[in-house]
Amino acid sequence: MPHIKTKPISNNELKNRAIKYPDIIEFVANSINYNESLISINYENEKFFLVYKYDDKEGLLKFEKITRPLKLATLKEAIGKVAKLLELEIVSSNIENLNKKPPLFASRYYKKIEDFKDIEFDFDKVAIEVGFGSGRHILYQANANPDTLYIGIEIHTPSAQQLLKQIEIQNLNNIWVVNYDARLFLEMLPSNIAKQIFVHFPIPWDKKPNRRVISVDFVSEAIRVLDVDGTLELRTDSDLYYKYSVDIFSSFEKIKMQIQKNFSLPIISKYEARWNRQEKDIYDVIMVCNEKSQELNNNFFFSFNKMSYNIDIVNNLPHESNIYKNFFIHFERFYMIGNESILIKCAFGDFAKPEHKYIILNKKDCFYYHSMPISSRANFDAHNKIKELLDA
Ligand SMILES: C[S@@+](CC[C@H](N)C(=O)[O-])C[C@H]1O[C@@H](n2cnc3c(N)ncnc32)[C@H](O)[C@@H]1O
Repeated sequence: MPHIKTKPISNNELKNRAIKYPDIIEFVANSINYNESLISINYENEKFFLVYKYDDKEGLLKFEKITRPLKLATLKEAIGKVAKLLELEIVSSNIENLNKKPPLFASRYYKKIEDFKDIEFDFDKVAIEVGFGSGRHILYQANANPDTLYIGIEIHTPSAQQLLKQIEIQNLNNIWVVNYDARLFLEMLPSNIAKQIFVHFPIPWDKKPNRRVISVDFVSEAIRVLDVDGTLELRTDSDLYYKYSVDIFSSFEKIKMQIQKNFSLPIISKYEARWNRQEKDIYDVIMVCNEKSQELNNNFFFSFNKMSYNIDIVNNLPHESNIYKNFFIHFERFYMIGNESILIKCAFGDFAKPEHKYIILNKKDCFYYHSMPISSRANFDAHNKIKELLDA
């Protein structure tokens, strides 16, 4: 990831230098406990943080994980530009090497999770593939069914990038690529919209089952998203995962289940080819949705009360992670923007799929910065508890 190592300068010096460039640097927030600043950047229509850390010997200017823009080109340009504006003395940098890489996610077929709040699907039929890996299966399906929109959701960024390249090469217009955790993504989709959801060869996570894609919550969301007769299709080489999924599917009433062993599909993925060479058994567990589901109700408002906040709040808030019934909250780090505004980095929501956000508090206001949490029930419950803790 792009970064620049510099001769160290202090937080305050950094802040003084940044004031001259309000067009690009909106503010600098200095950590209360560490030699670390967050630099709020507005560059090429993207808003995000860069982090500056320093010790006696060295400074480090780098990207910030939660808010990083997906276009690597924007990120590295911004780091280079900010280093120059702030007159940082560069000791070493990996920005040049990164110049040779193609920009990520420039394609119109790449969709951000926020886009799904009010997206037009433009196709009568919709299908979803979770964890498409090399993309062989989704590309095959999209070529074979040009009247269907295929939404591929993959957590691994290089795989998402590779599929976007293939979409251009194969001149397809019916695949969208989402680079996100599938366990959260389904919650963003309307009810009764999909004819198929493919989950092919998910990671078995035998030692950490809470990280598995298939879970009671996932299946319940899948049933809501599937139309009547729509199918959730699990294909796996893992005996354990097969049995685990049959157990989970069986706990639902509105479904039928079909099981197949060593059934050949017209396209063989990279993983499947490996298991075929090892002569492993392959299981399909197909869940058919029997009933229409209610419309999605995720119109949660993530707003705070208008009141005056001051620095005392930092001492009053819990600094450890707190676990509640269906969510947790962890206020991780605290920063000052000038003398009056506080920036809090926090993690919250569902234990298995946490949300990471920043909150700004000042004399008259409180809000999430730069973007709202995903509209899920666990996030909303956690948000209400955060509100209560801030106002206590
Ligand atoms: C074992 S590979 C299988 C890839 C492909 N389906 C195939 O059959 O070749 C599992 C894929 O699921 C992706 N994955 C794992 N957890 C995920 C999640 N929570 N959300 C989206 N993708 C995930 C991984 O990055 C990986 O590409």
